[in-house]
Amino acid sequence: MNTPVNVALPSMRIAAIVNSASDLAVGARHACALVEERVRCWGANTRGQIGTGSTSAGLIAMASVVANLTGVSDVQAGGDFTCALSAQTLDAARRARDAPPVMERPKRYLSGIQPSGELHLGNYFGAMRQHIAHQHQGNSYYFIANYHALTTVHDAAKLRAMTFDVAASYLAFGLDPTRAVLFRQSDVPEVTELSWLLSTVCAMGLLQRAVSFKDKLEQGFEPKVGLFTYPVLMAADILAYDSTTVPVGQDQIQHLEITRDLVTAFHAIYGEVFVRPEPLLGEAPLVPGLDGLKMSKSYGNTIPLMAAGKPLKERINRIVTDSTPLEDPKDPEPRVAFKLYSLFATAEERAVMADKYRAGGFGDGHAKVELRAKIEEVFADARARRAHFDAHPDEVEDVLREGARQAREVARATLDRARRAVGLS
Ligand code: TYM
Repeated sequence: MNTPVNVALPSMRIAAIVNSASDLAVGARHACALVEERVRCWGANTRGQIGTGSTSAGLIAMASVVANLTGVSDVQAGGDFTCALSAQTLDAARRARDAPPVMERPKRYLSGIQPSGELHLGNYFGAMRQHIAHQHQGNSYYFIANYHALTTVHDAAKLRAMTFDVAASYLAFGLDPTRAVLFRQSDVPEVTELSWLLSTVCAMGLLQRAVSFKDKLEQGFEPKVGLFTYPVLMAADILAYDSTTVPVGQDQIQHLEITRDLVTAFHAIYGEVFVRPEPLLGEAPLVPGLDGLKMSKSYGNTIPLMAAGKPLKERINRIVTDSTPLEDPKDPEPRVAFKLYSLFATAEERAVMADKYRAGGFGDGHAKVELRAKIEEVFADARARRAHFDAHPDEVEDVLREGARQAREVARATLDRARRAVGLS
């Protein structure tokens, strides 16, 4: 029987202990991650309890997970940041604290785009551009999330066409299939099985808080099960490929938090199986649409990536402006036309336009003309390459097939690990 030892256990100290390597520390590491995730994801409530409560729910959770995973039965928690741990657990924690740090995994980038509407500047500057850039830095996996698109697109021909559009656009904008693996989500059906395994440890509350689900309901979508469990499938996508780094726009951050929560929940029951991924925001995590809100396929406020000529002009003309007289000096920063122009322009070009706004005699109408010219110029090469892929769809299909073959090998290995952990094999 272990002798319980009372120790003051501020959460920072736990963090220091649990970042170190040791099998025995695994329990403490999970515990810390659990609390950390709760604080990060679900905010005020837990923070309040951990920060001020005399019976800290966070500490109790922590202690119970430590108990679970270290097999020590007399772990208790209570009081102001005071937790009773057994001598054995404390020893394990101390050994872990003094152990050499864990070797860092090499980075693996992974991300996905839904073929649920025309790709737009938000998709490009928020996600695709960094995906393509990262292909030079580590191994990279990018996919077309057609399973996810089924939650909103119920037209087979449209889904096929948009799937091709995403693949051809990636290639046109510079994705090199010899450096990055590009594939269709549905060509790796292992993710649907993994999604099921994750759903068995996923609390309903986790999904009920998902902003994207509430947003879809507000847009008038029926509350379908697939829409509700969308983040679980997304977690499966990310975990299946042992991804360390997920480059996304701001709107996907909560989905990454849910993924990390699911890792914690799964590991707390079955032990370590998955790599815990980190989101990565690029330089333009929230590109505004024509109306100043987030640019989004579902808000009808986009500038499509492939728009040129008259259709491009029409979209740009719809960018919001205000009624400030032309001759007045203006602050460029809040203006959508200026923000969009800044995505394409060099720092000098941006500064020149900002000065013109501030000087007066220059308005959004002028900025729109410059924006249009800039888009035509910067995207000209990509549009030409895209025309090539439109004329040679077999080339795109070959890339996707080879990508699926490579992606499937990784996903299979992860799924096998998960199946063994839960007792399916
Ligand atoms: P989706 O298809 O809505 O968007 C694809 C990517 O584009 C980014 N994005 C933006 N970034 C900045 N400003 C904007 N206005 C803007 N609009 C879109 C998104 O953040 C995203 O990175 N759930 C995902 C698809 C997905 C996925 C995954 C992503 C499925 N499984 C696994 C990463 C990892 C989605 O709907 O993206």
